Amino acid sequence: MNDYGSSGLSWSEKQKVYWNSIAHFYDTTYSNFWYHREDAGTLAALKAVIPERTVSVLELACGTGLGYSMCKQFIPDMKYIGLDLADNMLAGFRRNYPDRTYQLLLQSMSNLDELEPASFDAVICIYTSASFCDDPGRLVDAVYRLLRPNGCAFLSFVGRWSFRRLIHLKFSRIERFQTRGIRNPGFYVPAWVLSKRHILQIAKAAGFAQVNVSGQSIFGGIVQLPWLWPFDCYLSRLLPDLCHTLNLTANK
Ligand SMILES: C[S@@+](CC[C@H](N)C(=O)[O-])C[C@H]1O[C@@H](n2cnc3c(N)ncnc32)[C@H](O)[C@@H]1O
Repeated sequence: MNDYGSSGLSWSEKQKVYWNSIAHFYDTTYSNFWYHREDAGTLAALKAVIPERTVSVLELACGTGLGYSMCKQFIPDMKYIGLDLADNMLAGFRRNYPDRTYQLLLQSMSNLDELEPASFDAVICIYTSASFCDDPGRLVDAVYRLLRPNGCAFLSFVGRWSFRRLIHLKFSRIERFQTRGIRNPGFYVPAWVLSKRHILQIAKAAGFAQVNVSGQSIFGGIVQLPWLWPFDCYLSRLLPDLCHTLNLTANK
């Protein structure tokens, strides 16, 4: 496997190669009790920000369809568009959800100019996926433009000051991100890491009115013991910056 740092590929090409090569085992990586609880938390957070009367949902970096399945649970009649640059992830999406009551776009979220402005009620990007865009600030601007008035956004980033990064003495602004379970040090993908304050700044600068950032999972991927879960939830609320995942919710 390549060391992408010296491979000469563009940011988006690195993302494409990485995610395409792990797509076949991506779903099984996140299937223990800890991740199921994280999923329950994500579903609750999506429900809290996206009204049930929502008509159209755009999911950026939709992967194999987890966000689609979550939204479908409380907006069964939504018009859903999922976008991702990795064709193997989208193939997994189609396998997981053969109903095909959705539209999938094979494209990067780095450039969303071809999508119609003010055409979505909700734009989501879950499980740190917004960090895989080459320019998170530009992404948040684009999301604002794509939303209808009163539309809402749920965008998730890798936290800069997470417990996981602190104990590994990682302080750079761009992380060599590895999906859980990958051990080969040369096999990674770049990801921006952002603090809560920075995320709030770019959301406000984009024009969003009601902005909030909450944290999810401090010990995930480090020590995933059942008794630790309530403690993790409590600490995440208290010290969101220590979390691996920072979720921005905002309204236009
Ligand atoms: C951590 S996975 C999350 C997938 C899905 N959102 C989920 O929660 O299961 C990150 C996803 O981002 C996609 N991705 C990475 N960079 C991207 C980009 N620039 N544009 C669109 N998708 C991208 C990858 O292909 C991958 O499917």
